This record gives sequence, C-alpha cells and structure tokens, in this order.
Amino acid sequence: MALKWNEIESYAKDWVKEAGESIKASFQKKLTVQTKSNENDLVTNMDKETEQFFIGKIRNTFPEHRIMGEEEEHDQLTDLKGVIWIIDPIDGTMNFIHQQRNFAISIGIYENGIGKIGLIYDVVHDELYCGIKGRGAYVNETKLPKLNGVAVKKAIVGVNATWVTENDKIDPAILGRLVKDVRGTRSYGSAAIEMAYVATGRVDAYISLRLAPWDYAAGAIIVEELGGVITKLTGAPINLLEKSSILVAKPDLHKEIIDHYVTNFKEQTK
Ligand code: IPD
Ligand code: CA
Ligand code: CA
Repeated sequence: MALKWNEIESYAKDWVKEAGESIKASFQKKLTVQTKSNENDLVTNMDKETEQFFIGKIRNTFPEHRIMGEEEEHDQLTDLKGVIWIIDPIDGTMNFIHQQRNFAISIGIYENGIGKIGLIYDVVHDELYCGIKGRGAYVNETKLPKLNGVAVKKAIVGVNATWVTENDKIDPAILGRLVKDVRGTRSYGSAAIEMAYVATGRVDAYISLRLAPWDYAAGAIIVEELGGVITKLTGAPINLLEKSSILVAKPDLHKEIIDHYVTNFKEQTK
C-alpha cells in the first residue's frame, strides 16, 4: 500500500507542536541535568522525555517505521531501508539550559535514504520550518523563496569558534582563511537553527566539523528543497549512518568554499 505522506506530515507536525508545549511548560519546573561524553556535553530530563514522547507516538501510529534518536532507546541502524525518523528532541541543549531560547526540535523523515519531510521547530519563537520533498519549504504557513548565490566576501557564515582556535583535534588553519575572508561569522549553538537560518537567508552558510545525523537530517531536507547544497566539508555526500563534517550553503557559495578554501581537511574518525 502506498504511504500516505500527507498523513505522516500532519501527525509529525501535531506531535512537534505538542512536544514544544511540554518543553515550554518545563521552563517553570526544575530540570535534571546530566553530562554525557564530557562535562560540556549536556542532557536533561526534557531531552529524554521528549524523545520518548516521539518514540511512543511513532511506534503506536506507524509500527513499521524505524527510529534513530540522539538519546537512549532507538533502533540500531546499519542501513537506511524503509521509513526512518531521525530525531533530535532538543538541538541546542546548552542553550535550552542556559538561555531558554535558541534551541529546536529537529525531525527528518527519510524513505530508503531519500529525505521526505524535514521539521525544525524553534519552540520559543513558535517558528516551524518545514521542507517537503518536491513541494518546497515553509516557515509556518509562509513559503520560502529559492536561495540565490552569494560570494564569500559578502557572506555571513555560521561557525563555532572552537573550530578556529587551538585544539587537539583540528588544525585551526582549515577554516581560518575562510573566516578572515567572509563578511561576518555567527554562532547560535544549535545546528538545526543554523541550518534553518541558511534556509531563510539569515546566514549564507553553516559549517561544522563534527555533527551527528540527528543534528542535520531535517535541515538537509529543508535546505535542499530551496536549492541549497549540503555535503561533508570535503564535498563528499553526507551519510546518514555516520558522524561527519558538514557544509551547508547557498549553491555558488558552497562551490567557492570547496574549490578555494578547503585544503588538507580529513574527516575525524573519533
Ligand atoms: C549540538 C548543537 C551544537 C553543535 C553540536 C551538537 P545538542 O547538539 O547542535 O550547535 O555544535 O555539535 O552536538 O547536543 O545540543 O543536541
Ligand atoms: Ca544536536
Ligand atoms: Ca540533542
């Protein structure tokens, strides 16, 4: 039986809004904060509860669909067959804890590896970014225009300062020259929000040297619907089964960055 994508979209949007209400309500309550891989890698009870909320809804409504989520329980995926929901319940957890803003729910729904529905919900601003394969991208009810090219020297690029400062993993020179040449840089602390900002033209590109599929799965669908380009920083295609670098940008800008700025970059294996 053919999948009813309108129905999936409608459920997904309702669940995202419902989860957003619970997250807003949690501002009045005490959060439980734990650390994960290091002392700045944070997770709260709301990250876990929100992911559980989506898992419960999906398993009840679409039992044949598979789930890749950031926190605890999810299917261990080794392939992209069938319909897969890729979920980051709160992207920008540090902002959620410290600022109560600049975080988002991010959900990408893929079928056999092809992006079908991308949802990024900026809960506090009540902005739901939505990309539907073949039907364009929207913020709430407003259709977004296609992205036009821009040159590096006129571009605002989202990049985290840790990638251009001395650290034990990455040579700061890799992005240093680009950061010097662009008009400006911004760092919002949520990959999903930064990709939504590429979609709206608030920034022209976003670069991270290490992201997980749940950070970019929704944003990739939204940006590609508008003619934007997403690849690894090497220009290679993204792979939803692995962590990697990400360059998401307006079309001409993506090419200029790859052709003239990326040298000696190797994917981190850890
Ligand atoms: C993080 C945010 C952040 C990015 C990190 C991600 P989280 O996601 O997107 O902007 O720099 O790499 O892990 O942990 O808040 O869901
Ligand atoms: Ca994330
Ligand atoms: Ca998260």
